[in-house]
Amino acid sequence: MKDFEKEDIEFILEEASKLEDIAKSKAKSRELEGKILGLLFYEPSTRTRLSFETSMKRLGGDCIELGDASNSSVAKGESVADTAKMFESYCDAIVIRHDLEGVSRFLSDIVDVPIINAGDGAGQHPTQTLLDLYTIKKHFGKIDGLNIALLGDLKYGRTVHSLAYALGMYDVEMTFVSPDELKMPKETLHDLEKNNIKYKQTNSLKDVIDDVDVLYVTRIQKERFPDVEEYEQIKGAYSINKKLLEGKDLIVMHPLPRVDEIAYDVDDTEYNKYFEQAANAIPVRMAILRNLITHRYE
Ligand code: CP
Repeated sequence: MKDFEKEDIEFILEEASKLEDIAKSKAKSRELEGKILGLLFYEPSTRTRLSFETSMKRLGGDCIELGDASNSSVAKGESVADTAKMFESYCDAIVIRHDLEGVSRFLSDIVDVPIINAGDGAGQHPTQTLLDLYTIKKHFGKIDGLNIALLGDLKYGRTVHSLAYALGMYDVEMTFVSPDELKMPKETLHDLEKNNIKYKQTNSLKDVIDDVDVLYVTRIQKERFPDVEEYEQIKGAYSINKKLLEGKDLIVMHPLPRVDEIAYDVDDTEYNKYFEQAANAIPVRMAILRNLITHRYE
C-alpha cells in the first residue's frame, strides 16, 4: 500500500465505478481478450482467488492457476522464485498469495510481468484495501470526514495493515481496537507517526461504538499464532451482534472469512456491509487488472 498515492487510489475507485455494469454482467467487455492472468495461491483463499478469476473473465481474459501445491512441482521442492519465472512466460500478470511477508515485492524485482500482492503472510493485502475504500465511498459518498474503527487482530491481520496506510491518506478519525496482545505493529504505527497521521488505540469496543461511522471487524488469525495456547486464550475477544448494534448509526465491514466475531443475526440488518464489500471485489479488481495489463502493452 505504501506504493500508492491518494490519487492512484482515487483513480482505481473511479475506474471501478465505471465497470459496475460489466462486473454485474449487464454489459460485455473483450478488453483483455488474449491475455492470461496467473494465479499463484500458496495459502487458502476463496474471495480473492475467485474474484480475480471472475474479474479477468468478465474482461474477456483467461486464467491459469498453480492449484494445490501437492499437484504442482512445488511438491518437488521448486522455489517460489522459479515458479514465478515460469509463470512470467505463460501469462501477462501474476497474482500471488504466500505466507512469506514481502514475497510479492521480491518477485516484482525478478519478474517482468506485473505482480499483484493478494496477501503476504501477516504483511499486506492492498487490493482488499482498495475494495474496502470503494465500499466506504459507495455508501457514504466520501471517505474524508469519517470516523473509522479497525477492530480485532491488528497484529496479524494483513487487511488492516494496508487499510491503515490507505486511510492515513484521508482526513479520517482512525481508532485501533484490539486486545493488548494483538495491537497494530509498531512499524505501522511508526510509519503513521512519521507522516503526522493521527490515530487512537484502545482495547474497549465501548469506547468507539457510539461514535464510529465504520466498524471494520477482523478475524483473530489463528493460523499466524506461534503458540495455539495463546490463540485459545484470546479467541472470541470481540463479538458483534444485533443487540449491540441497535440504535447505532454505523456500517459493519469485514474482509471475511468470519468465525465468531460477527453473529449471524447481523446479516439481515442494515448494518451488514460485508457481503456487498465482497461483491465489490469484482469491479475493483477489474479496474486493477485493466490498468496493469493494458498499460503494459501501450
Ligand atoms: N478477504 C479475503 O482475502 O478473503 P479470502 O481469504 O477468502 O481470499
